[in-house]
Parts: sequence; C-alpha cells; structure tokens
Amino acid sequence: MGDHVLLTGATGFLGGYLAGELLTRTSATVHCLVRGRSGGGGEARLLAGLRRVGADADGRVRMVHGNLRKPRLGLSDREYARLAERIGAVYHCAASVNLAAHRDRLAPTNVEGTRAVLALAGHGGRRTPVHLVSTQGVFIASRAAGAAVIAEDTPVPSAYAGDIGYTRTKWEAEEAARAADVPVAVYRPGVVLGHSATGHCSDNDFLARLLRAVVRVGAAPDCEGDITVSPVDHVARTIVDLSQRPDALGGTFHTTHPEHLAFREVFDHARALGYPLRECSLREWHGLLRDDIGSSDSFVMLALWKVVDHLLATRPEYRIPRIDSSATLARTGAVPPWPDRDFFGRTIDHLVGREVLPPLPLART
Ligand SMILES: NC(=O)c1ccc[n+]([C@@H]2O[C@H](COP(=O)([O-])OP(=O)(O)OC[C@H]3O[C@@H](n4cnc5c(N)ncnc54)[C@H](OP(=O)(O)O)[C@@H]3O)[C@@H](O)[C@H]2O)c1
Repeated sequence: MGDHVLLTGATGFLGGYLAGELLTRTSATVHCLVRGRSGGGGEARLLAGLRRVGADADGRVRMVHGNLRKPRLGLSDREYARLAERIGAVYHCAASVNLAAHRDRLAPTNVEGTRAVLALAGHGGRRTPVHLVSTQGVFIASRAAGAAVIAEDTPVPSAYAGDIGYTRTKWEAEEAARAADVPVAVYRPGVVLGHSATGHCSDNDFLARLLRAVVRVGAAPDCEGDITVSPVDHVARTIVDLSQRPDALGGTFHTTHPEHLAFREVFDHARALGYPLRECSLREWHGLLRDDIGSSDSFVMLALWKVVDHLLATRPEYRIPRIDSSATLARTGAVPPWPDRDFFGRTIDHLVGREVLPPLPLART
C-alpha cells in the first residue's frame, strides 16, 4: 500500500473510522481530501472525528484541501502531480449520501468525483490501486428485475440499481472503476450500523430517520422488510484488512453479516427499550406520516419513500435480494457481531444523547 495513502470522505461517518484504522493498523501517512480552505471547518471536523474514534494522528495525517466536484479535485497542477507521485493507494469513501436526491444532482460528486479519483490514480501512467467504498444499494431493485440472490461475483446490470439517484450513481461509480486502467477493489457495505462498543452512529442515515419517524408517530409498520448490516468498526476494519492483501485487487467484497436483520426485530428492540410503538399496517403508517407531514421527521420519511419501498418491502417484489457475503467472510474469517438488544440500546442511547431521538419515556424491560 506504500508509505502514503489518500483517503477521501474522512470527515464523514465511515471515513472517520477508516482514517482511524489506517492510522492504527498501518504505518502509512494518510492524506485526507477535505472540503474547504486551509484552516476551515473541514479540518476541525476531521480532527474531531479522529479524536472520537480514538486515533492518534501522530503527525501522519496530511490535509489535502480539495473537492471531488472540481477539475483535478480542486488541486493546483503542482499539488495534483505531487500527490499522484506520492501515494501508494487510494481509499475512496467520499460520496453524497442523499437518498432523496435526483441522480443528476449526485452524479458530479458520486460519478464524476470517482472518475477524478481514478484519473489521479492513473496520472502519468501510474497504476495506483484504488479501494472503492460502494454499497449493496447498487442492487436494491434486483428482486423486481429477476434476481433473488446476489453474491460478490454476481454481475449487476443497470436495472438492479433501481430509480433511486443515490443507488444509480453508486452503480455508475462501480462501473467507472471497473472500466478504469488502474487496479481496483470494490467494498460493498450494507447498512452501516453504529460502533459495536460505543453505539456512535450516523445522526441522519436511513435507520436514524426511520427510528425518528416511528417514535414521532408512535407506531411502527408491520412489514416483511429486512436489511444487511454490520457495525461501522467492523466495516472499516474489514476494508483496511482486505486492502493490505495484494489479491484483493480486482475483487468485490460484501462486508455484512450473513443473516439479514428484519425491521420487525429493530422495532421490537425499540419497544423493549422503552418507546411505546403500536404496530400498524404499512398503509396506516403511510397515512400517519401524511397526517403529520408538517413535522420534519414525517416529511423526510415520505421524501425517502422509494427507499422505504425496498427496505420495508411495501410489495413482495420490492424486497431486497438475499445478499451472500460468504466469499468475503471466507477470506477475512471475521463475522461481524450481530446487533442484539444491547447493541440497539447503545445506539439509541447515542441518538438520545445527540437529541436525535427523544428521551426514553419508559423504563427498559
Ligand atoms: N452509511 C451507510 O450506511 C453506508 C452504507 C453503504 C455504503 N456507504 C458508503 O460509505 C461511504 C461513506 O458514507 P457515510 O455514511 O460515512 O457518509 P457521510 O457521513 O455523509 O460522509 C460523506 C463524506 O464524503 C465527503 N464528501 C461529500 N461530497 C464531497 C465532495 N464534493 N468533495 C469531497 N468530499 C466530499 C463528505 O465531506 P464533508 O464532511 O465536507 O461533507 C464526508 O466526508 C459512501 O461512499 C457511501 O456511499 C455508506
């Protein structure tokens, strides 16, 4: 991987943990592409994130002030050439993770930004390896398109990505990476859960927003939907572990637990932890959200309805496919911890502490 690596997305949720893993488990200097000017907010957020994950920057973090949406990543010719010469690997984790936005709004970051990263890796005829963080969302609509099971080596045609801008652009990014003349490994997390020990999780991902919405309307839908998951620390460790093996290049990896997590189980945990959630039908739940559309929690859930269709399986054909991660698990030998009630207790405590969720009204059972 070399003495120097480039990491994008280090100010984000998963990227912060990737930075921590790279600093803890390798001796590389980590160049972090950070938005904004020198001394701006990006730098402070990166350093705060590193403190949160307990990583010691130890003089091995270098800020690269740039932007995926700009030509040459927003770097000067000199900076760009120097960075390309120096780095032995790229970890491309940055993306616009907006599940409601149209494809055209996300493409400059998610597709063109990925092309710009691939171009840097290939600059001057180099073939610097790129480790691309993708998502299992690239086949969110595959059941309706005729595929019930997807493994790491299953071909993923365009139709499998559905008509959600985010999943489409992540699919396009994978395609661009596979077509590029640099060695690439693709890592597909499922839903990235909070840290297995601390509960630190994203404040605004789908799960946090879903929990807000069900707590807000006091009801959770009875549904067949399920997701594949793993805690953020497991995802980051798996990526850094695999990326250090030369035979990872050319491969695709699913970083998730082999079992799917049913939303029924998630709602049961929330109930047992103290939130009074009446069970209702999907149809009734949709009505409750509509009646409450003036609140941002209900409004956002309705805005994400295309994602709800698939994850909560509003129709049998929308349900996500069975996702096989056995080839990845056979390589790493590391099965992610299963998110049990205690796990969700830590997640909910974190979200309550951040005032994302209201305090638990009842004593825990
Ligand atoms: N979270 C999940 O459940 C999940 C599941 C599967 C896959 N993934 C993938 O994992 C990766 C990280 O997701 P996340 O949840 O950690 O997202 P996140 O917290 O929203 O972080 C996104 C990161 O990308 C950076 N970024 C966005 N636009 C940029 C631009 N134009 N130029 C440079 N940097 C830019 C952000 O920088 P700022 O801080 O400046 O905004 C931030 O560091 C993404 O590739 C996502 O597709 C996530």
